[in-house]
Amino acid sequence: MRIAVVHGPNLQLLGLREPEVYGRATLADIETSLERIAGELGVEMESFQSNSEGEILDFLAEAADRADGFVVNAAALTHTSVALRDGLLATGRPFVEVHISNTAAREAFRNHSLLSAVARGVVFGFGVDSYLLGLRGLVAQLRSEV
Ligand code: DQA
Repeated sequence: MRIAVVHGPNLQLLGLREPEVYGRATLADIETSLERIAGELGVEMESFQSNSEGEILDFLAEAADRADGFVVNAAALTHTSVALRDGLLATGRPFVEVHISNTAAREAFRNHSLLSAVARGVVFGFGVDSYLLGLRGLVAQLRSEV
């Protein structure tokens, strides 16, 4: 089984960016933790970060052939991008939406996600553990399908 993790705009700045909201862990720290959990679960993992919506769409289309599912922190695109929602659906693969912060407790424009209704599940508000819980949840879902 292979899982692709997708990080959206500005997440390359984790560790520096609004640490009071997103904590001090860097994207590299998150990758290390994800790789550890993937190893425990016995799944392969790859990850991709971009600040460009088009690059993310291209990645999804290209990775759909090799990935069984996606863990996605679409960052601000969560709240704005019909194209990303369509691109995720077009993969034909399940995805879990994750957010570091509790988006429901923040500004009103973050309360709505264009992705949640088509996600297999959503995890938010657990800091970087949202990614790890999302990965575990997605793998459990995929395993229960077979
Ligand atoms: C975020 C929440 C989004 O609203 C925000 O635009 C981000 C990060 C999170 O992980 O908490 O960039 O997805």
